[in-house]
Amino acid sequence: MKMFETSTSEKLSATVQNEPVKIAVIGLGYVGLPLARLFATQYTVVGFDINRGRIEELQKGHDSTLEVPDEALKKVLLPSNPLSEYTTVPEGDGEEIQLTNGKGKNGKPKKGLFCTPDLMDIQDCNFYIVTVPTPVDKGNRPVLAPLYMASETVGKVLEKGDVVIYESTVYPGVTEDECIPILERESGLTFNEDFFAGYSPERINPGDKKHTVDKILKITSGSTPEIAKKIDQLYASVITAGTYMAPSIKVAEAAKVIENSQRDINIAFVNELAKIFNLLEIDTHEVLKAAATKWNFLPFTPGLVGGHCIGVDPYYLAQKAQERGYHPEIILAGRRMNDSMGGYVASQVVKCMIKKDIPVSNATLLMLGVTFKENCPDVRNTKIVDLIESLEDYGVRVTTYDPWAKPEEVEREYGIKTQNHLSNIQGSTFDAIVLGVSHDEFLSMDLQPFQNKNSVVYDVKGVLENTTGKL
Ligand SMILES: NC(=O)c1ccc[n+]([C@@H]2O[C@H](COP(=O)([O-])OP(=O)(O)OC[C@H]3O[C@@H](n4cnc5c(N)ncnc54)[C@H](O)[C@@H]3O)[C@@H](O)[C@H]2O)c1
Repeated sequence: MKMFETSTSEKLSATVQNEPVKIAVIGLGYVGLPLARLFATQYTVVGFDINRGRIEELQKGHDSTLEVPDEALKKVLLPSNPLSEYTTVPEGDGEEIQLTNGKGKNGKPKKGLFCTPDLMDIQDCNFYIVTVPTPVDKGNRPVLAPLYMASETVGKVLEKGDVVIYESTVYPGVTEDECIPILERESGLTFNEDFFAGYSPERINPGDKKHTVDKILKITSGSTPEIAKKIDQLYASVITAGTYMAPSIKVAEAAKVIENSQRDINIAFVNELAKIFNLLEIDTHEVLKAAATKWNFLPFTPGLVGGHCIGVDPYYLAQKAQERGYHPEIILAGRRMNDSMGGYVASQVVKCMIKKDIPVSNATLLMLGVTFKENCPDVRNTKIVDLIESLEDYGVRVTTYDPWAKPEEVEREYGIKTQNHLSNIQGSTFDAIVLGVSHDEFLSMDLQPFQNKNSVVYDVKGVLENTTGKL
């Protein structure tokens, strides 16, 4: 593994054409905002997003994804665009240099972050980092429209010497074969002569306050050896965990997509084990615990695979493989297994109810958690919805409580009503309680007041004691 230690002087030598580093981050979501905030501690950063509501909340110093604490955001926020105002900065012996429209060759624009929905605000940047979503459609085919649109946006403001770095998760080839032609068309510039590109996949883990963006080793790559080094130095100047410079953009793209595919396949394997051990009436978690005492046993646990990374990225790789005439067997088998788990868990809960002589039709059930993972407000592609729908198919009446999810968002996305205040469910008791997401709040919650005399308690995450059943 190649690691780059970068000094401040090397960092400054990474500037384009001796201009200061001026970064535009396109797409300020779970990935873009933490990255923009981090770069803004050292550089001038303009964050661009087409969602005006998102820009408004960020400029007020609040991140509704909860990835960047408000204090940390406010610390770097700039009230106006440092690249479009005349300003003076102290320099060297106290002399002040006037910047003209952010283009000053001798001065430095203010460091910090300014967020905007206005394209003109990013026109003077020299590094463009694209962090827009790459979802799949209902048929699990990759949707590259946001990436194409973001490339058109950047193409409109691209100038000679600029560098465009893609971070969105894609299949190998998207950057060079699909995005670069858009940049060339929109800008009228020539790739690798007038402007350059790179790919640096993001490994951030929403809700994880330990592995934050600066503490996760970052893969980098560039369209020429010099640009690869420049991009690597730029990231290494803010990522304390270090960087790994991949030999090509395609290698970097492929590395990201297989990281998540590998996780998906491993989880699919333990989900299959859970189905087998449930038939054999053996506790899967105990089996995994025992097996994990071997030095090279991989510690995966069964569960619902939701969100927009692990459950999505394998389809990107599969699509590219199929285009080349190869039908991926293991990758797609993993996806099928993991996508079947919502329905499977519902059937297990219903079995537990029947064993306790609880009439299933019109039974009341409390679902704890609706987000796609613990301690995170993100409900996109959550598989808890599959579980709720399957339970409702059996005639069970489900009440959902999640202190992290926004009820209006869940209703808009899925048509499901949720409660986010405990007081709204207090006083009610249920025939069954299902722990679907292991938010910290649930780990210390007393379930007794919500149970009927004969209630089922089912634990999807394997974290509760004294349950009727678990996955
Ligand atoms: N969230 C994660 O855990 C995670 C981790 C690693 C990689 N990724 C990848 O990073 C990429 C971004 O994911 P995310 O979770 O941050 O998405 P997100 O939906 O949270 O944020 C994307 C942002 O981009 C904005 N946007 C969409 N189209 C745009 C456009 N044309 N121009 C400007 N802004 C636009 C949206 O308004 C949104 O604010 C995806 O490819 C994803 O697979 C995500």
